[in-house]
Amino acid sequence: MTEAVLLVGGQGTRLRPLTVNTPKPMLPVAGVPFTVHQITRARDAGVTRIILATSYKAEVFKAFIDDADLGIEVVIATEDEPLGTGGAIRHALPYLESGPDEPVLIFNGDVLSGVDLDGLVTHHRDTGSDVTLYLTPVEDPRAYGLVPTDHEGRVTAFLEKPKTDEEIVTNNINAGCYVFKRSIIDSIPAGRPVSVERETFPGLLDSGALVTGVVDSGYWLDLGTPLSFVQGSCDLVLGSAPSPAVPQTGDYLELPEAQVASDAQVHGGSVIGRGAVVGAGAVVTGAVVFDGAEIADGAHVAHSIVGAGAVVGAGTVLNRAVIGDGAVIGRGNELLEGVRVWPEARIPDGSVRFSSDA
Ligand code: GTP
Repeated sequence: MTEAVLLVGGQGTRLRPLTVNTPKPMLPVAGVPFTVHQITRARDAGVTRIILATSYKAEVFKAFIDDADLGIEVVIATEDEPLGTGGAIRHALPYLESGPDEPVLIFNGDVLSGVDLDGLVTHHRDTGSDVTLYLTPVEDPRAYGLVPTDHEGRVTAFLEKPKTDEEIVTNNINAGCYVFKRSIIDSIPAGRPVSVERETFPGLLDSGALVTGVVDSGYWLDLGTPLSFVQGSCDLVLGSAPSPAVPQTGDYLELPEAQVASDAQVHGGSVIGRGAVVGAGAVVTGAVVFDGAEIADGAHVAHSIVGAGAVVGAGTVLNRAVIGDGAVIGRGNELLEGVRVWPEARIPDGSVRFSSDA
């Protein structure tokens, strides 16, 4: 038996305003809460028990898990105050049943990946590592902390984001999935916030612990920003990202009771949520339309997220926009390039326009 801890207690600030009502891991991605993709992947890799480490909006997870049957035992551990990534792992300790030398998988709650989890645990056991990190190579590592390894795969440092080209000593970054020997979790200080990335990992290196990295260059995406959220959802629908929980792959996914006009165009891996409406002549490309939202006649929605129950007026154009739950965007508006509209906001007809020549 392998146990896992799924870290889902963050505030998801980069995805606001979608995370005002719903914690990031509970946002629907390709038809189900994102966390379901992770839980079912872990289940299929042989994990039999998973601890959901919650903090922000913990009640939303509880309500969902109480009614869900995911084919795996899910236990909720809730922090009274957010304890950070390392503090949350330590807080999950009393909920774990593994022995001190057994491996425990840890997942960040916003990573979509195809990593071979069984291979990761096997590497961890075979090398006798204290901690094994899944590393992923990225083309431009300047936005990330770097994790160099030696020729035997031993992690040699945890480096801050590189500021100069000389500081780019590797393209491998921490991919947000680890295997911990359970006894290492015992050594994390209890009852106070701890960052696993900034405190626990560097501390383990300083103390001479065996920390190894497994580089996997398969699919990896951090769904923390609106654009990557849309991309992850589309990749799942199109079948280019792996998950056992996607109801059906194809050019788009229409959930039950959605109504799409016969002359509307929906493609690029878009999702049309339950009970959502897409009007005549509307075009929805590579976008996520949450449950009960309405895209009125002739509207164009590309690479955007339309929150639950929101309305996009006739002829309105959205490109790379995020519309909060219940917001109403009047007719004939243009919301482009990173615009975010707060839940329940009202934008009158024809009041927002961007010139493409600007
Ligand atoms: P941003 O605020 O947009 O950066 O997103 P985030 O809140 O998810 O933060 P970040 O991406 O750094 O967190 C990495 C993972 O750890 C995510 O899956 C978070 O849900 C989780 N996490 C972060 N802080 C805590 C915490 O205090 N408690 C728990 N249980 N999980 C946390």
